[in-house]
Amino acid sequence: MASHSAINELYNSSKLIPCVFPLFLIVILLLSISSADSSTHISDGPKNDLFPEILRDEAVARIYELGKVSDGHGYLERTFLSPASIRAGNLIRTWMEDAGLTTWVDGLGNVHGRVQPPNASNKALLIGSHLDTVVDAGMFDGTLGIISAISALKVLNVTGRSRHLQHPVEVIAFSDEEGVRFQSTFLGSAALAGVLPASTLQVPDKSGLTVQNVLKENLIDTTEENLSQIKYEPESVLGYVEVHIEQGPVLESIGLPLAVVKGIAGQTRLKLTVRGSQGHAGTVPMSMRQDPMVAAAELIVLLESLCKHPQDFISSNGHCNAFSIESLSGSLVCTVGEISTWPSASNVIPGQVSFTIDIRTIDDIGREAIIYELSNQMHRICDGRSVSCFLDRKHDADAVNCDGGLNSQLKSAAYTALKRMAGEDIGDVPVLMSGAGHDAMAMSHLTKVGMLFVRCRGGISHSPEEHVLEDDVWAAGLAIQAFLETNL
Ligand SMILES: *[C@@H]1O[C@H](CO)[C@@H](O)[C@H](O)[C@H]1NC(C)=O
Ligand SMILES: *[C@@H]1O[C@H](CO)[C@@H](O)[C@H](O)[C@H]1NC(C)=O
Ligand SMILES: *[C@@H]1O[C@H](CO)[C@@H](O)[C@H](O)[C@H]1NC(C)=O
Ligand SMILES: [Zn+2]
Repeated sequence: MASHSAINELYNSSKLIPCVFPLFLIVILLLSISSADSSTHISDGPKNDLFPEILRDEAVARIYELGKVSDGHGYLERTFLSPASIRAGNLIRTWMEDAGLTTWVDGLGNVHGRVQPPNASNKALLIGSHLDTVVDAGMFDGTLGIISAISALKVLNVTGRSRHLQHPVEVIAFSDEEGVRFQSTFLGSAALAGVLPASTLQVPDKSGLTVQNVLKENLIDTTEENLSQIKYEPESVLGYVEVHIEQGPVLESIGLPLAVVKGIAGQTRLKLTVRGSQGHAGTVPMSMRQDPMVAAAELIVLLESLCKHPQDFISSNGHCNAFSIESLSGSLVCTVGEISTWPSASNVIPGQVSFTIDIRTIDDIGREAIIYELSNQMHRICDGRSVSCFLDRKHDADAVNCDGGLNSQLKSAAYTALKRMAGEDIGDVPVLMSGAGHDAMAMSHLTKVGMLFVRCRGGISHSPEEHVLEDDVWAAGLAIQAFLETNL
């Protein structure tokens, strides 16, 4: 009975030696407690100085209004440049103009609104998030970041303070972050950051229309030759800031509305295929089976153990730095979300089973170490069961660290906002790690990035159950306003 385990070449290559770099990345300070910088001088005033009618009531009304702008009936769906996305973009433009911003749409359908103060420097501060959604989405993911930026700038406009900003400020509503239509995330922000491959314009959606076709349908004439004109020059920007719902349960569990984001986890997506011997469920004795289904089950359970207790698998034989194990176990998450079997019949021992693996951690080298260990263990399990296993690497993104300077400004702005709202000291603003990708990841190729997270109910997102309290929308707007005021 011939059998062997074939493992993707990459995993046998010697360049993957885990834990040889003693100094890398940061220890993840989930809930790092360092004293908030209270250097921002904003006097505590009555709550009507806090612009609840703009930063809360109007912002919430706009979020709900955008939540109804959908391509689906009875559920929220806005994909790249779909009719609903165009309508949403137009609404956002009117709101930007209402806040005193000059607006335009770029060659990838991103909506921009800019305030250009008279004596400002030539480096613009960019603030943004995405206007597209997943299918059956919640209405805060992406939208909250766009709306809170517009509201904060509206406050500076009505108080006459936007004229005194030291830097131009530009709000950007990105056309695609979720990647639903073209299965390619960050179309909008990647183009702006200059990291979108020109070939992406030829990627087709399910109906066969390419990115370029869809742009053209909307009177945007972007070609492979002039895609690069969308790119911003690093010298023209000061940094990028994004407000986003947390999409996790931590802020709710500690009872605070805002957190600063330390960094965004890196990610690898793999496909693991197990081939065995297809056969009759009634006639092949148990001892003579090469069943890929049970091998897949064993591999999935192994993956869970590996990601729950990486320290048990990755040896600290002197090479491994304690920080790496610590940052790894603090942020590592692994998921098998999709599984398919062939021929998928109740009376047939499957011939082939494949499943997806999604691995994320803030620790890029730790992620390689996990994949290396996974492939070793896979080899062992598949040999033992006489099935063939292949690991195929589909997608990689390195972790992104947020900028220390922007983070401390955002932290003190969030602290100020919460203190003003509560009328008393609310303690430290927590620092979290982001397990989800954001436009800030693409923007980090252009400039330094900083992020604020906003509490969402139950940590739920990508669902109509997604919810943010009205006062938390207010807190987000107030924090961005306080952040902008540090640039006055
Ligand atoms: C506020 O915005 C309006 C346009 O809506 C503009 O005319 C006005 O100059 C802006 N005010 C300041 C102080 O920038
Ligand atoms: C811009 O600079 C000029 C010259 O220094 C000054 O007169 C003017 O008041 C400044 N404008 C603002 C809005 O700060
Ligand atoms: C890109 O090229 C097309 C075709 O030559 C042209 O119509 C379009 O205006 C160009 N776009 C930009 C942003 O220059
Ligand atoms: Zn999002």
